Amino acid sequence: MSSVPTVTLNNGVQVPQLGFGVFQIPPDETKDAVLTAFEVGYRHIDTAQGYGNEQGVGDALAASGLARDEVFVTSKLNNSNLTPEDAMASFELTLEALGSDHVDLFLIHWPLPTVSDFVARWRTLEEIYRSGRARAIGVSNFQPHHLRKLHAETTITPAVNQVEIHPYLTNDEIRAFDAEHGIATEAWSPIAKGQVLEDPVLVRIAEQLGRTPAQVTLRWHVQRGDIVFPKSVTRRRVEENFAVFDFELSATDMADITALDRGMRTGPDPDTFAFVG
Ligand SMILES: NC(=O)c1ccc[n+]([C@@H]2O[C@H](COP(=O)([O-])OP(=O)(O)OC[C@H]3O[C@@H](n4cnc5c(N)ncnc54)[C@H](OP(=O)(O)O)[C@@H]3O)[C@@H](O)[C@H]2O)c1
Repeated sequence: MSSVPTVTLNNGVQVPQLGFGVFQIPPDETKDAVLTAFEVGYRHIDTAQGYGNEQGVGDALAASGLARDEVFVTSKLNNSNLTPEDAMASFELTLEALGSDHVDLFLIHWPLPTVSDFVARWRTLEEIYRSGRARAIGVSNFQPHHLRKLHAETTITPAVNQVEIHPYLTNDEIRAFDAEHGIATEAWSPIAKGQVLEDPVLVRIAEQLGRTPAQVTLRWHVQRGDIVFPKSVTRRRVEENFAVFDFELSATDMADITALDRGMRTGPDPDTFAFVG
């Protein structure tokens, strides 16, 4: 039903290139927010154990009347689940909260390189994948050197790497590494939590095209080939963010936006982040 193109992952699984993120949506508001996204046409939801709102996503799935295979659902292993036993037990809880016998994509949320061995956590995800309860597995916030270590020590190449990307942090080195190794890149905080929307370049391009800066930014991601899932609890914005497939940015506009890179993170640095709560 939707006009959203799909990206084919390295195991053949297809993911809608535009989805809906639920980070920081309070648990008791998540069901309604996701139902709004479904009404608008989104068929890809990005949640995480750490967001505390998988149950709301599950409730929305149940209430939506949509068949399970019409929706692509991602969740992520929380930083507190460091041992294989904890990781496996937490995955069972994820399935229970989502009301499903599988997730479409399960990710290691953060590498936590100073805290624990992410290779061991990856082996647990491999086991989950082999059991058929995750259609694809991947990582989040992995730098190329983390991915090289996984590649050297494990069997399955991650299907995706979900990292912070927006016009102020283009992260092109990671994107190039991912592409070279058959890993799809997912761009989190695609509008930098709103912090890029007053940028004069984005405002100028938006005015020229009769679009909003958020739409121009999301379109830039789409034309770069990344997967995105902006978050909003505001219906008008949920609709606005979905309307990015009926216009195009010129090569000059694309280059002007990419040139805005200033290495600005809105979130933690993956090499030092060590929060295990
Ligand atoms: N893997 C990771 O470590 C990680 C980290 C962060 C995020 N993520 C994922 O990425 C998703 C998106 O990232 P994010 O939520 O951090 O940030 P984001 O999508 O870049 O921005 C969300 C913020 O922008 C506002 N907004 C949304 N659309 C807008 C529009 N059209 N015009 C003006 N403002 C707009 C929202 O406000 P309202 O909601 O008030 O409308 C909200 O405050 C998350 O939900 C999560 O799924 C993953």
